Amino acid sequence: MSESSGHAAKLLLRVLAGEAVWPPPMWLMRQAGRYLPEYRAVRARVKDFIALATTPALAAEVTLQPVRRYRMDAAILFSDILMVPWALGQGLEFRAGEGPVLPPIRDAAGVAALQPGGVPERLAPVFETVRSVRRMLQAEGLGETSLIGFAGAPFTVACYMVEGGGSRDFAATRLMAFNEPKVFARLLDVVSAATVAYLSGQIDAGAEAVMLFDSWAGVLSPGQFRAHVIRTTQAIVTELNRRYPAVPVIGFPRLAGMLLGEYVRATGVNAVGVDTGMDAALARSLMPPHAVLQGNLDPMALVAGGAALRQETSVVLDAMRGLPCVFNLGHGIVPQTPPAHVAQLVAQVRAA
Ligand code: CP3
Repeated sequence: MSESSGHAAKLLLRVLAGEAVWPPPMWLMRQAGRYLPEYRAVRARVKDFIALATTPALAAEVTLQPVRRYRMDAAILFSDILMVPWALGQGLEFRAGEGPVLPPIRDAAGVAALQPGGVPERLAPVFETVRSVRRMLQAEGLGETSLIGFAGAPFTVACYMVEGGGSRDFAATRLMAFNEPKVFARLLDVVSAATVAYLSGQIDAGAEAVMLFDSWAGVLSPGQFRAHVIRTTQAIVTELNRRYPAVPVIGFPRLAGMLLGEYVRATGVNAVGVDTGMDAALARSLMPPHAVLQGNLDPMALVAGGAALRQETSVVLDAMRGLPCVFNLGHGIVPQTPPAHVAQLVAQVRAA
C-alpha cells in the first residue's frame, strides 16, 4: 500500500513475516460479537446475521468496534465461514439459540446442485466491507492496525454443509468421506475453488493477511486429516501464494494435536493458530523454525478474569518470549465474556 511506503510495516505483518516483536501483537478470534454491547446494538437493527454480514456499512462498523475499544493490532473482517455455502446457493439460516441451519448435502446430486458461478456476485458486499474497513482505519487514526480476511477451511465448511448445521462429532460427514470418497472429494474441491475466490476478493479489496479456520480438523484420523485437511489447505495456500506472494496465510487446524507440525510443513502456511489444549512449547518443538505461532489463551480464562486470567496469560506470554508470535486465544471469545476482562488482558499483554 502506498500510504505505508517509507514507514516500518505494521506490527502484525512484521511478525507474520518472521520477526520476533515484544510485546507480541495481539488480536482475539471472534473479537467482534455478542459479548460487546455495541455489537448487540447494531445486531438489533437487522433481521438476521446474513443481513448484517452483507450490509457493508454495518459489517464495517462491527469490524471496527473491538479495535476502537481495545486498540487491537488487527481487525478481523466481520463475516462468517458459512458465507461460502450461502454464496454457493445452499440455503443458510442462523436460528437464535440453535446456531446455523442448512439443508444437508448427502449425495452427488446435492453437490451438483451447488452454483459456483454465483459466488463472486453474492460475496461482493463482503469485499465492499473490506474496502470500507481499510478506509475507516485510516480515517480514524488506526492506520497501524492490520486487516485480516478469513474463510473456513474446506473440511470444516464441508462439515456444516453435509451435517446441515453443528454437530458433536460430525458423524455424517466422516461417514461420507469413507463411503462416498469421490462425492466428498468433489464437494471439497467445489468449496476449495469458492474459498480461493472468496479470499482473493478480500485481498484485492485490501485484506493484508488471511486466516483459514479449520475448527473441526481434529475429528479426523491421521489418514483422513492428510486427505481432507492437509490436501485442501496445501492447494489453497499454493494458489494464494502464486497470486499474492506477499500476503501471509494463517492456518488454524483446531485439535490437530501432534499433527500440527506436519500440517505447517505440508501446507506452507506462514503462521499457525494453536488451540487451547496444546502446550505452546510442544507446538514450537513440532514446527519448522520459521513458523509463526498464534495463540493460545483459554477463552474460559477470559470469562473467569482476575487471578486465573493473569496466571494463564503469563504462561502463554512466557512461551512466546523472544519468538515470532501473535497473542490470541486458543478458540473464539464466548458471548458471556465480560468486556472488562478483555481490557485486563490487553493491559497485561501490552505491559509484558
Ligand atoms: O470477530 C470475528 O472473529 C469475525 C467474525 C467471525 C464470525 N464467525 C462471526 C459470527 C468469524 C471469524 C467466525 C468464524 C466461524 N464461524 C467459525 C470458525 C471459528 C470457530 O469459532 O470455530 C465457525 C465454526 C463459524 C460458524 C458459526 N457462525 C456458528 C457455529 C455460529 C453460531 C454460533 C455462534 O457462535 O453464535 C455462527 C454465527 C456467528 N458468526 C456469530 C458471529 C458474531 C453470532 C451470530 C449473531 O450475532 O447473531
